[in-house]
Amino acid sequence: MLKHFLSAGDLSRTEAEALLERAARLKAEWHAAGRGAHPELPLRGRTLALVFEKPSLRTRVAFEAGMTQLGGHGSYLSANDIDMGGRESVPDVARNLSRWVQAIAARVFRHATVETLARHASVPVINALSDREHPCQALADMLTLREHFGRLQGLRLAYVGDGNNVCHSLMLLGAALGVSVAVGCPPDYRPDQEILDLAERVAAANDATITVSASPAEAAAGADAVYTDVWASMGQEHEAARRRPAFQPYQVNAALMAEASPRAVFMHCLPVHRGEEVTAEVVDGARSVIFEQAENRLHVQKALILTLLGL
Ligand code: CP
Ligand code: NVA
Repeated sequence: MLKHFLSAGDLSRTEAEALLERAARLKAEWHAAGRGAHPELPLRGRTLALVFEKPSLRTRVAFEAGMTQLGGHGSYLSANDIDMGGRESVPDVARNLSRWVQAIAARVFRHATVETLARHASVPVINALSDREHPCQALADMLTLREHFGRLQGLRLAYVGDGNNVCHSLMLLGAALGVSVAVGCPPDYRPDQEILDLAERVAAANDATITVSASPAEAAAGADAVYTDVWASMGQEHEAARRRPAFQPYQVNAALMAEASPRAVFMHCLPVHRGEEVTAEVVDGARSVIFEQAENRLHVQKALILTLLGL
């Protein structure tokens, strides 16, 4: 049984499919309930601690609203509040929180921090974004693709841009669910080789492929979805000017979308920089599913918490 959720690679195919199925059911129930509280309030009396070292809109609000709608509560703790590793050691934060709350969602700079939290917590720990992965995002993205195309097996996703945390989680979860992922990225910004090797092995077992090339057009060719993310992630803002020229050829624009399947959707985890990694025409165009992805954060994160709590 899933104890923590630190990596998209933590999920077997069966577990990933069950989570998406549960998220879809919760989504239907929530809409049927007028987008308010779920009828049974299964998280009554339960608290999720949100330990965030970086800013957030979607992840934070989806967790907090999700807890409220299921009858529980989200307690947000910024770096200013607890200063993990400064005012208090990471293991002590984990041990303290475990005495009061039922789960911890952590957004951190170093992936090792979520691993340390998980090692020392007696409650489930969720990776709410680290420098290595963004697995909750990938879950929402796969739910969005499943809704749009009615299936996942055999779909082809092109990820164009930085081989970053979002890219890593998409490769790992895509591989588990039979979605082929073609990454097009500058040679100096390739995904982590260890994650790539793992994703390739898992994909092969699920009749899918994971490929990396330096050509955005090659990645996008015939794709069902074209996905991009910012060129400088949180914590890399000082590198933005240096990165821009390397990434300019990887901008998603109408010409690149024309390489994809005529029914291809455009995806982005948000926040977006219009005119940088994607043109306004594409991100605000008819094929963009960015706000479906954003809404689906709510549903997958609810499914995840219920599953981790054995409910
Ligand atoms: N996509 C995403 O995780 O958004 P936030 O950084 O606003 O949480
Ligand atoms: N790669 C981005 C994703 C933000 C949701 C970052 O880490 O800042």
